[in-house]
Amino acid sequence: MKRIGVLTSGGDCSGMNACVRSIVRTALSRGIEVYGFKKGYQGLLDNDYRSLTSQDVSGIIGRAGTFLQSARCLEFKTDEGLKRGHENLIDLGIDGIVVIGGNGSLTGALKLHDIGVPVVGIPASIDNDLYGTDMSMGVDSALNVIVNAVDMIRDTASSHDRMFIIEVMGRNCGYLALASAVATGAEAALIPEVPYNLDDIARRLKRRFKEKKTNSIIIVSEGAGSAADFAAKLTEKVGYDIRVSVLGHMQRGGNPSVFDRVLASKMGRNAVLALEKGESGVMMTYCDSVYSSITLTEALSKQRPLSQSLLDLAALLES
Ligand code: ADP
Ligand code: F6P
Ligand code: MG
Repeated sequence: MKRIGVLTSGGDCSGMNACVRSIVRTALSRGIEVYGFKKGYQGLLDNDYRSLTSQDVSGIIGRAGTFLQSARCLEFKTDEGLKRGHENLIDLGIDGIVVIGGNGSLTGALKLHDIGVPVVGIPASIDNDLYGTDMSMGVDSALNVIVNAVDMIRDTASSHDRMFIIEVMGRNCGYLALASAVATGAEAALIPEVPYNLDDIARRLKRRFKEKKTNSIIIVSEGAGSAADFAAKLTEKVGYDIRVSVLGHMQRGGNPSVFDRVLASKMGRNAVLALEKGESGVMMTYCDSVYSSITLTEALSKQRPLSQSLLDLAALLES
């Protein structure tokens, strides 16, 4: 193996830089050249790449985002786009490619594998919606951002006897909301995977109010609905002040956590070693503290279940 490609695609997240750094340095140490494509699959279609040196990846491990930049490239979803990407890889003499991204990006990676390109995927999405890995890259850093924000909002909630509804990301997956609710002692988490009853929540909040627990925090996953809608509905039911806070894209930024830096570095190294061994069509995984891999076909064909023990813990501790 002489030359591999790497790209970061879809929503950016903490750890992408650390991962590219690890891929470049691992590959160079084994005599393999790395072409970094800019803006995900767009760079592959536009032949927008450069050969990365060890210096190119210096000083980026502690920065979120991706210096290769990311994009949502609709053209790559078409048969013509895929064909052009394949031809460009052949013309550039690329023997394999590492795709860092979420479920959409890895679907593109599987298509490349299916037409004969050696591909390894690395799960990167704050949503933690990919099957087969306990954690995707970026999740832990996003949770740390959320927990800091919620702790700060709790300060003002307690000063003013207020209820806050805080909306966190998670397009179809409630993991961020559930885990951050447990970590902040939130009074409830509203997530797409579990049906909720607003009358029950309102009754619980009113009871708390009578017991002089006069501030509350509810964390809503964007996949369950908007915080503004929930606030309007709950205000009618409880009859007191509710404030809304939408955390938004700050959840994808900031400094990557230690966990994400290590996860990204290990998965990046393992991806290069897997390509070198001739593996393809696989996604790097981290389960029960063990780094391994799963086929992209399996990872993309199943829904990641929410941990029942985390759900039980959240239910036990909210009151
Ligand atoms: P994420 O990877 O974070 O889930 P997206 O779903 O937006 O983000 O996908 C990122 C990019 O991956 C898309 O813009 C497109 O270039 C590529 N992609 C997504 N779905 C497919 C698909 N079905 N076939 C080929 N490429 C895809
Ligand atoms: O999939 C990651 C994610 O951050 C989701 O949590 C969110 O719904 C979406 O991407 C936001 O996408 P955009 O970058 O297009 O605003
Ligand atoms: Mg996605």
